Amino acid sequence: MNVLIIGGGGREHALAAAIARSKKNPAIYAVMSKKNPGIAELCEDFLLEKETNVENVRDYAESMSIDIAVIGPEAPLAIGLTDVLEEEGIGVMGPRKKVACIEFDKAWARNFMKDNNIDGCPSFKVFEDDDGLDKYIKELGNVAIKPAGLTGGKGVKVMGDQLPDVTEAIAYARGLLENDNVVVEENLQGEEFTLHAFVDGRTLAFTPCVQDHKRAFENDLGPNTGGMGSYTDTDDILPFMKVHDLEIAKEIMQQTVNMMLSTIGVAYKGILYGQFILTNDGPKVIEFNARFGDPEAMNVLPLLKTDMLDVISAIVNGTLAKLEVVFEKKATVCKYAVPAGYPDNPTSDKEMIVGDIGDALLFYSSVYEKNGKIYTTSSRSAAVVGIADSIKDAEQIAQKGLEGLIGDLHSRHDIGTHALIQKKIDHMKQVRGY
Ligand code: AMP
Ligand code: GLY
Repeated sequence: MNVLIIGGGGREHALAAAIARSKKNPAIYAVMSKKNPGIAELCEDFLLEKETNVENVRDYAESMSIDIAVIGPEAPLAIGLTDVLEEEGIGVMGPRKKVACIEFDKAWARNFMKDNNIDGCPSFKVFEDDDGLDKYIKELGNVAIKPAGLTGGKGVKVMGDQLPDVTEAIAYARGLLENDNVVVEENLQGEEFTLHAFVDGRTLAFTPCVQDHKRAFENDLGPNTGGMGSYTDTDDILPFMKVHDLEIAKEIMQQTVNMMLSTIGVAYKGILYGQFILTNDGPKVIEFNARFGDPEAMNVLPLLKTDMLDVISAIVNGTLAKLEVVFEKKATVCKYAVPAGYPDNPTSDKEMIVGDIGDALLFYSSVYEKNGKIYTTSSRSAAVVGIADSIKDAEQIAQKGLEGLIGDLHSRHDIGTHALIQKKIDHMKQVRGY
């Protein structure tokens, strides 16, 4: 089987590694904008091209006789690459444009949840102009403000965080309205977690829950990033969660997939990423994404015991109900090395040397290879993942891995440590009113 991976980051490296482990010996191909050395090493052939240049991706897929394509990032999903490849008879893990809008149109996603009575939706309103805007923001009092479209995780601002008060919230929302619709919603309090599901249109197979750390600096301080690192526990839940919380989150995602099929008539085939905030009133949806998380993919994909090619085929063929999707009962800790100064003033084009990373797994992200050397860009560079019988041991493996990455790099050393996890448990107790 010829499998094409679209995308060249850490998430796609983890996807390629999971596919390369398949007992069915697939031939792997890739389209990526820069040469990710980790993906390139696993490939028969690759094309250096923007993932959103749909015609060129399609032509390459045809010329390589691709059977199945796996789309990593959101941008090609948002412009309908799936639809184009499916028209050529290629199976795709990644939803069609009509349902991928669950990620790329946050206004649509919220209205979809509300119109279909899907649980876990906060109070919100969508604004196309500023009519009633300040009244609603004042009414809610404590808000999150979001542009409706894709912003690479950088457009959302929350009161008490990036927005000091109602006046600034109104001003920020007004500014956004010049370019996009704006979603105003209640500011939810609690710990965040990610739940991914493999989806074949009807059936969902869930990965363990993951907690990402969006802030650039230790103790969850500093600006938001794409994600600095993440962890999973040996169970499917995280230390601050209860089994019941997971059941509710799963049910919300199942309802969402069911309603997409029945109201839009398109089977959602790919990954559904639920980003939840665990409130005193249970899990609420912050947003849905139509793809794996980055870094979260690097936690869960190495744990997958079921053959990844069987999972992908079941998604494409609609037969996931017949496949048992199993993960190893291990804890994982993933830590990113990012360029110094990331995200506000990152350095770039600095050499990164990979020394002794011990037992950690290594996934390359936004780096490129030139004349046998690896160079950084202004985005996240590479991630290390520790896998062990406890979060504590996994953290130490990841930490050792980071020591082997040499360059002008920054990392968060607190992710997965006992102190930070205890802080999250205590925060959740406080939110639940214990
Ligand atoms: P997003 O770009 O949608 O992932 O949002 C970035 C961050 O904003 C999330 O990780 C949350 O921490 C925060 N956020 C988004 N929506 C809300 C909300 N309704 N309440 C509280 N925090 C939120
Ligand atoms: N780690 C957050 C995301 O992939 O959206």
